[in-house]
Amino acid sequence: MNLLLLGSGGREHALAWKMAQSPLLDTLYIAPGNAGTAACGTNLDIDILDFDAVKKVVLEKNIELVLVGPEEPLVRGIYDFFKSDKQLSSIPLIGPSKGAAALEGSKDFAKEFMLKYGIPTARYSTFTRETIENGISFLKTLSPPYVLKADGLAAGKGVVIPNTLAEAEATLKEMLLDEKFGAASWKVVIEEFLHGIELSVFALTDGKSFHILPEAKDYKRIGENDTGNNTGGMGAVSPVPFADAVFLDKVKQRIIIPTVEGLKKEKLEFSGFIFVGLMNCDGEPKVIEYNVRMGDPETEVVMPRIKSDFVELLVAIGKEELDKTTLEIDERTAATVMLVSGGYPDKYEKGKEIIGLDDVNNSIVFHAGTKQEGNNVVTNGGRVLAVTSYGKILKEAIATSYKSIANIDFEKKYFRRDIGKDVGA
Ligand code: AMP
Ligand code: GLY
Repeated sequence: MNLLLLGSGGREHALAWKMAQSPLLDTLYIAPGNAGTAACGTNLDIDILDFDAVKKVVLEKNIELVLVGPEEPLVRGIYDFFKSDKQLSSIPLIGPSKGAAALEGSKDFAKEFMLKYGIPTARYSTFTRETIENGISFLKTLSPPYVLKADGLAAGKGVVIPNTLAEAEATLKEMLLDEKFGAASWKVVIEEFLHGIELSVFALTDGKSFHILPEAKDYKRIGENDTGNNTGGMGAVSPVPFADAVFLDKVKQRIIIPTVEGLKKEKLEFSGFIFVGLMNCDGEPKVIEYNVRMGDPETEVVMPRIKSDFVELLVAIGKEELDKTTLEIDERTAATVMLVSGGYPDKYEKGKEIIGLDDVNNSIVFHAGTKQEGNNVVTNGGRVLAVTSYGKILKEAIATSYKSIANIDFEKKYFRRDIGKDVGA
């Protein structure tokens, strides 16, 4: 089979790495890909938000299945574009419809959905410019810190958590009146702050049945001990030691099953990944957010733990026959540490030569922001490489990644030295 994977990050390299291992594969195309995905298939330099350009390569390269990595094409309706096109409608595109992608694209929609289907989440209310006074009254009913979320996609920056009521009121005004996040904050969700420890659970679904993939915990802040600005993610581990069988069963019964059933009842077509960001509140799971794609860098620990042929699973999803497949999981722990450009998540430079990639033998190096330039691989983004290792226990996996990292260098390389520490590494 010829397959097309859309995206260019560490997540896509991990997906491509896994897909490339399938005997079902003839050629894997990755658009646009990065220097790492080029080793798993053929990169195609197209803009994946230009759906006509995607259509052209699908037809030209005789693509038989498309997997979408990032959320943006999904939220913009690439699934619906395929379904409504005569030449594309029979080619499975693994990803949710535009309506279903609103679970990620609109926080207000996601909260309403959870309320309707009894899925545990923080108490909330949604406000607009017209109802800002009610928003201020609602803030007064909550105790600090306060959680304010821009309704729409805001490049992962749309959540603000002020510590005082005065700051919360000011933030609400900035979001609604000054359009702090542009159109994304025309609506603002205010919710109760949940205390606990976060993790993510992923379901792979064809809209009828699902497999629960290995869970993961990521490290979002730039600084050690979870300090400083939020990033896309600085590292991840799987499994998550505190997510025991009892907890994961609660997630399945109270969250995954009602989500899949709810989507069916709403007639929202969904194939692909349901990513549930969770808070473990004293053993009780509550949903912080939905995403309609895999996480990055979570994918860099989840894919290495899947033993089954991933392409076979994708093909089964395309036929709505996922219930006929099984999912086999590697019992080992996987841990990944992100190497980022100095200055990230604020200003950073690109184009720095990366050395030492060939000296890594005991880890898998997934490329995120990298580019091939002649014979060299150079940095091409804030997050540059995810260094993943296996271990019998978490400590071993993490130690192997840190050892491998010592071989890799580029100007102003930065990484957190405490990945997994809070859960036993
Ligand atoms: P999100 O963009 O929805 O993932 O939110 C970003 C981060 O804000 C999450 O990863 C949490 O760390 C935090 N957060 C979001 N909602 C809540 C909440 N209700 N209680 C506590 N922390 C939250
Ligand atoms: N690592 C968090 C995300 O992919 O949204």
